[in-house]
Amino acid sequence: MVANDRDTARRHALEGAREIAALVARARGRATARVVLFASAWAGEGTTTAVWAVARELREHYRQRTLVIDLDRRGARRSTRGTAPGLTEIGADDVPVAECLREGPAGVSVLAWGGSRAGASPDLDPLPALKRVIDACSDEFDVILVDARPILDDPDTVALARLTDGVVVVVEAGRTRFEVLERVRAALQREDVGILAAVLNKHVRRIPGWLYRLLLQ
Ligand SMILES: Nc1ncnc2c1ncn2[C@@H]1O[C@H](COP(=O)(O)OP(=O)(O)O)[C@@H](O)[C@H]1O
Ligand SMILES: [Mg+2]
Repeated sequence: MVANDRDTARRHALEGAREIAALVARARGRATARVVLFASAWAGEGTTTAVWAVARELREHYRQRTLVIDLDRRGARRSTRGTAPGLTEIGADDVPVAECLREGPAGVSVLAWGGSRAGASPDLDPLPALKRVIDACSDEFDVILVDARPILDDPDTVALARLTDGVVVVVEAGRTRFEVLERVRAALQREDVGILAAVLNKHVRRIPGWLYRLLLQ
């Protein structure tokens, strides 16, 4: 029992995913589907982990038809392994969007950055391609989650965020400094992009889980 409590106290928590799924499930978007972009300041903070936690919750708990668009240049690691056509083929070769959708885990659909063409067009502007995907998928899905590249690594991310209903900022606890988060906020504000919510990731709990859940927030 004591050992269990210690485990809970030390576990790296992903906080906010469940609440964000509830928020997205209730929200109204500009298009039929609600489109939410997830991004962090730097790589490795947990954006992909957060996207999938929210996607699963939306699918399993709220029965939302959910699409994840994976903008990682290495392809959709969790499902299609980078061989299926994706955003690059939509942008460069006019491949129909429907041909690029794949079935991912937990009944969530996935559209990857790209397959065969990805290496050949590393500089492709993802903006028109993403716009096409949102237009084409708006009736078929209730929610589209965009797993974007880090805001401070890739200026495209803020430009892409303008196509969505808002951004969820993913922050690794204890790593990302205050000043860095102010830069993230400024970059989004400059382009008039709203922050919908934030996920605090890898937050190490220093008290037992049962006590943590009793805290009023
Ligand atoms: N809450 C967590 N607890 C433990 N490991 C985590 C957690 N969140 C992310 N990780 C791990 O950290 C690494 C980076 O996470 P990832 O979601 O891929 O980050 P990003 O998409 O921001 O680059 C991965 O190996 C992932 O499994
Ligand atoms: Mg990622």
